[in-house]
Amino acid sequence: MSEDVSRRQFFVWLGVVLNSLAALILATPVIGYLLAPLLRAEGGQYRQWIDLGELDEFPEGQTRLAKYKNPISNAWDGDTDNIPCWVRRLQGETFQVFAVNCAHLGCPVRWFPQSGLFMCPCHGGVYYRDGSRASGPPPRGLFQYPYKIEGGRLMIQGGELPTLASPSASLNKRSQECQG
Ligand code: FES
Repeated sequence: MSEDVSRRQFFVWLGVVLNSLAALILATPVIGYLLAPLLRAEGGQYRQWIDLGELDEFPEGQTRLAKYKNPISNAWDGDTDNIPCWVRRLQGETFQVFAVNCAHLGCPVRWFPQSGLFMCPCHGGVYYRDGSRASGPPPRGLFQYPYKIEGGRLMIQGGELPTLASPSASLNKRSQECQG
């Protein structure tokens, strides 16, 4: 009788331990999701100012491809932690820095200076030179990085790709206004 009880107790405890482990494994991504906004807050570890290079590397009136190293990377990421972006210098210290990813499903867009358009190879999305949507399935224009000039160098706020939740909207209004 006492052996039955102890065996039953053993299986009860085993069940409790296994269920707790399963709950912990399932809860980890949920907890991460809930805590993410705190980490993304200003000064959080995700967003960082990243040096894209000297202003002279970006001639006025031109759009150039630039790359930066993702500040959140692992040793085994290899070349994938080099993130490309399109840099458009309007004049002086007025820039637009576009995420390379299409606003539809994220394919990398290419700049065609002859036509003055960004084109997406996946489903034919097209954007004007200012990043606004021209045609195709993208629901909006290209996402833009917040930027600033510091010590004659162009800095962008990287660490996560810009989205509608990024603070770029207000920061980039300035460059939109300067386009006239
Ligand atoms: S991913 Fe660019 S148009 Fe679909």
